[in-house]
Amino acid sequence: VSHRLTSAASEQERRARYREVRASVVALLEGEDDLISGLSSVVSELHNAFGWFQWTGFYRVIGDRLLAVGPYQGGHGCLRISFDEGVCGAAARTRETQRVPDVERFPGHIACSSTTRSEIVVPVLSHTAQLLAVLDVDSDLPDAFSEVDQHELEALCSVVGLAWSTQWATVSR
Ligand code: SME
Repeated sequence: VSHRLTSAASEQERRARYREVRASVVALLEGEDDLISGLSSVVSELHNAFGWFQWTGFYRVIGDRLLAVGPYQGGHGCLRISFDEGVCGAAARTRETQRVPDVERFPGHIACSSTTRSEIVVPVLSHTAQLLAVLDVDSDLPDAFSEVDQHELEALCSVVGLAWSTQWATVSR
């Protein structure tokens, strides 16, 4: 993907950019059997496609109700987040996308960067509906994520969940 789309982009331009991102993710993941390589590529494609994504990354389930950061792009993220904490924890707990237009109004939001104004967190499920990770995208713009972003990121996360539970299933995590 050539340049980062600006937040002035229309819904139509956003959709077109997501289509490009999804196509390149599908191509990059084809035959890729390493979890870290796969997840890093997804993060890179997404982060560099949209100018208002200030933090883009995964939190992986590593134990009992616990998430560990990475791979990601952006400023440093909290290393561990429990299922009881923040927006990521809420997404892990409910297995439902959390779209937060104003992080200051989300009780228990983890303020990793003081410039974050809005965020979206999408669960990544295996083909047997096990929670593998969540995808977290944070923006310095208020109300940065629309239903289009939610729909497209959910579609992307189902591609990731399928790859993870098939081609990366034998890889330790
Ligand atoms: N989105 C997180 C916090 C930000 S990260 O550490 C980058 C939350 O769950 O509140």
